[in-house]
This record gives sequence, structure tokens and C-alpha cells, in this order.
Amino acid sequence: MGKVFVFDHPLIQHKLTFIRDKNTGTKEFRELVDEVATLMAFEITRDMPLREIEVETPVRKSKSKILSGKKIGIVPILRAGIGMVDGILKLIPAAKVGHIGLYRDPKTLKPIEYYAKLPSDVEERDFILVDPMLATGGSAVEAINSLKKRGAKHIKFMCLIAAPEGVEAIKELHPDVDIFIAALDEKLNEKGYIVPGLGDAGDRLFGTK
Ligand code: URA
Repeated sequence: MGKVFVFDHPLIQHKLTFIRDKNTGTKEFRELVDEVATLMAFEITRDMPLREIEVETPVRKSKSKILSGKKIGIVPILRAGIGMVDGILKLIPAAKVGHIGLYRDPKTLKPIEYYAKLPSDVEERDFILVDPMLATGGSAVEAINSLKKRGAKHIKFMCLIAAPEGVEAIKELHPDVDIFIAALDEKLNEKGYIVPGLGDAGDRLFGTK
């Protein structure tokens, strides 16, 4: 069964409060999402494998550790996921970035893929799929389907705020995917917004309404 990690680090929680605040403007909102994405990336990469090399310090030769060259792919779900990419890239600059775009079919309300572009070596990469909000889980489940269909074997899902419904959907349909969140909120309202949430993440990131 996939694990759920809630990052209760004080810096993440502090910044998240201002991200939630409706009086936070677009510029500050974007900067805060970027900063929280960096902090979350620090935690999410805790299990990255290391190998030892020899290094010569000014004092003597020594063995020391470096990342063992694991290939990482970051995949934002369009469009709000884009707001988290640069923050992760600050810590993992060698990662490649794919994109998955989904829209909701007005009749069935199911997410339909309209765009997918991934690094060519999908099977060799560990993927971090990102979307600030995990609401019903429909988009996240479909994006994971899309990654797996193209050969992805190791996927982590990272978001700022999740609703219990979304977490359950991923756990049930993709039990191999671990979920990393900054806050687990109460519920979804009748319009599909997370309560208390932060409103529409895409609109707040890009200044649209
Ligand atoms: N997407 C958002 O941007 N906000 C929500 O509350 C739910 C889904």
C-alpha cells in the first residue's frame, strides 16, 4: 500500500499559511509555492541513493558521498503543476521535465489527456508528479495512468494540499505510488474545491480568474 507523508516542517507550514491567505497576491503566492516546492523536494529526495568517491580536501584524501546518478523526471500536471517545477529544479537541476495536460470531459466529468510529453528514457527515471491540489484524485490517477502507460516504474506524487478523497483514490488505484503533501485538509465542497484549501491554484499562480 502506498504511504502518505505529511510534511509538518515549521517552514513549510508557515509558508503554507500565507499561500492559503486570500489576501496574498499573485507575485507572493507564486514565490511561496516555489519555496515550498523546494522544501518539499528536500524531504522527498531523502531516499536518493549515494555512492562513495575519493576526494582530496586541503588536509588529506578522504572518502565522501555523492548522489549515485539516479535519473529523475519531474512532471507537472498542467497548468497549476508548473508552479512547483522551478522550486524542485533548484535542488535537482539535472532532472528532466515532462508535462501532462488533462481536461475534464463536460459530459462524463472524467479527465481526458490532451497533452503528454515525457523524457525519452521514461523507464529509467524516477518520477515526481506534481500538482498543488489533490482534490477528487481524478487528474492525479489519470496522470499516473499516463506515466505508467508510457513505461514509468517509479512514481511519487507531490502536492501542497490534499483532500481525503484524493488520497484514497490514489491509494486504491495506484498503491505503489507514495504521496507527499504539505497539508491534509478536511473535505471537498459541492464545487469540488478543497476546504479550507487555497482556492483555485492555477488562477492564483497565474493571476487569472
Ligand atoms: N483545484 C484547485 O485549484 N483548488 C481546489 O480547491 C481543488 C482543485
